[in-house]
Amino acid sequence: MFCDTLSDCDFMSPEYRQSVRSCLILGMELIWVTPERGVSPAVPYVIAEPCVDVMDKSCIEECPVDCIYEGSRMLYIHPDECVDCGACEPVCPVEAIFFDDDVPEEWSGYVASNADFFVDLGSPGGAAKVGRTENDPPSIKNLTPMNQS
Ligand code: F3S
Ligand code: F3S
Repeated sequence: MFCDTLSDCDFMSPEYRQSVRSCLILGMELIWVTPERGVSPAVPYVIAEPCVDVMDKSCIEECPVDCIYEGSRMLYIHPDECVDCGACEPVCPVEAIFFDDDVPEEWSGYVASNADFFVDLGSPGGAAKVGRTENDPPSIKNLTPMNQS
C-alpha cells in the first residue's frame, strides 16, 4: 500500500519500519527507525544464491524503478537505484530476495556480489535498456551449476 503525500505517513505506528520501507515519495532520502537499530540510512534489497541458474524474473515485473539487472547466472539489485519498496521480495518463487540485514549468514557474500556487479556498469538508470549481460562477478561466474532439479 502506498500513501499519496508525506502527511499520510503513519511513522509512529508499529508498522513504521514497513511503511517507510514502502515509501516511494522520499525516494533515496528514506530513513527507517526501529528500537533495536536506531536511525539508519535505508539499505537495499539483495538477491542471493537461490536465484543462481534459476532466474525466474518475476521480480522484474514488480519493480517500479526497473533496478533489477540481469547477469548470465543470476539477477542483481542496483544498490543505489533500489528505493527499498520491497515489492520484489514476496514474488520470488525460490525466496532469493532479502532485505540486506536479513540475508542468511551462509549467503552473506551475495551482498558484496550484488554491488560488484555494478562496478563497471555504473548506474544506467534502468535495467530494460541494458538487457542481459555477462557481467557476473567472478564469485558468481565461477560457481558450479546449481539449483537444477
Ligand atoms: Fe531470481 Fe527470484 Fe528474481 S529467482 S530473477 S530473484 S524472481
Ligand atoms: Fe525494486 Fe525490489 Fe528495490 S521492487 S525498488 S528492487 S526492493
